[in-house]
Amino acid sequence: MIEATPSEAATSWTASSATDPAAAASSRPLLSVSNLRMWFPITEGLIFERHVGDVQAVDGVTFEIERGETLGLVGESGCGKSTTGRTVLRLYRPTGGRIEFDGEDITGLEGEPLRRMRRRMQMIFQDPYASLNPRQTVGGIVGEPLLVHRIGTSAERRERVAELLDVVGLNPEFLNRYPHEFSGGQRQRIGVARALALNPELIIADEPISALDVSIQAQIINLLVRLQDRFGLTYLFIAHDLSVVRHVSDRIAVMYLGRIVEIASSQALYERPVHPYTVALLSAVPIPDPAIESRRRRIILNGDVPSPSAPPSGCRFHTRCWLRERLGNPDRCVSEDPSLRVLASGHAVACHFAEEVDGSPEQVQVTGRGSGPVGATAPTPATPSATDVTPESGGETPAER
Ligand SMILES: Nc1ncnc2c1ncn2[C@@H]1O[C@H](COP(=O)(O)OP(=O)(O)OP(=O)(O)O)[C@@H](O)[C@H]1O
Ligand code: SF4
Ligand SMILES: [Mg+2]
Repeated sequence: MIEATPSEAATSWTASSATDPAAAASSRPLLSVSNLRMWFPITEGLIFERHVGDVQAVDGVTFEIERGETLGLVGESGCGKSTTGRTVLRLYRPTGGRIEFDGEDITGLEGEPLRRMRRRMQMIFQDPYASLNPRQTVGGIVGEPLLVHRIGTSAERRERVAELLDVVGLNPEFLNRYPHEFSGGQRQRIGVARALALNPELIIADEPISALDVSIQAQIINLLVRLQDRFGLTYLFIAHDLSVVRHVSDRIAVMYLGRIVEIASSQALYERPVHPYTVALLSAVPIPDPAIESRRRRIILNGDVPSPSAPPSGCRFHTRCWLRERLGNPDRCVSEDPSLRVLASGHAVACHFAEEVDGSPEQVQVTGRGSGPVGATAPTPATPSATDVTPESGGETPAER
């Protein structure tokens, strides 16, 4: 077993604060993000660069994650999910807002304190092909974080890597093989093993299954769930559609154009979505009951997602909102930016008229509680996705080991 230096003891493999009873007893959230803003400058001119605007990738995002909790983060491509994850990890310096990790303000952390903090937060990437160095052996890839943080001797690191491979369901004898010798699912397991190397507390899983074959998606989800139970991990689980996060998330945050528009417990979000955008997203998620599914209709949103460098005024969703249209296009949607407010049902929602959604024919129909069709419609596929398989039923096959 690898020994940590005294300065590293607090976060080492052998003495993780994730399993420290004092830390576990702490009631504060592990991660607290308030009003986070990450804008990327747009410049023009080759010699004299002029700042002509900003891509408002993340603009005023607030959420918390409790220790041991999984928060799902969903939204269409380009809405700022990855940027949120990367900014939380402090791979970017935020343009504004505050990030607290385990009670410590890490927003402006730099140098050695940031490096030490980063050991406690790791990322699993979307593409296991692109995120693994093809010229490094599996041992080198998984052991790299230990080497970078100068933990253990080379023999101890080797032992730890073998242990990690076993933990993620890979044969420890694969240590000297290269990434191309593995299947997509196995490569993602290597990515998971690398993320676990430093015994982190928070894992940001950025679309960890969307590049994988449908048949192995459930296996990776199951692996992540098992590892969470075993190591007391906290997850920010990013996905672009709601079906993927359903079974893994305790709560789900829905993002649209750099903002969170709704946060609720996973069950509440599926049963009573109250933001018109969430209702539309949910209408695209098949319900694995053919009788209900045949009656459901998809809500098609008008137009494309607007550019994050010139977001619409007022409510950013107003250019595509079916509810606004149904309410006769109220000016308030265009003139007033709705803040995230908490309803009696416990949902936090950023819509002036969210009360109109609750109990509406659209909500009832999309959640499968009703039978009639809704406004602008198109058929949805009736086949349940692989990720609608419950975690228990999506077991690993020997081929994945
Ligand atoms: N380093 C960067 N510089 C400039 N713009 C960026 C940068 N990273 C992201 N963006 C822009 O910020 C916006 C949000 O991007 P982000 O990758 O966070 O979205 P996403 O929700 O993760 O999308 P996807 O589902 O496609 O992964 C996009 O418009 C993107 O082009
Ligand atoms: S505030 Fe208006 S435009 Fe925005 S989601 Fe609500 S109804 Fe739609
Ligand atoms: Mg992304």
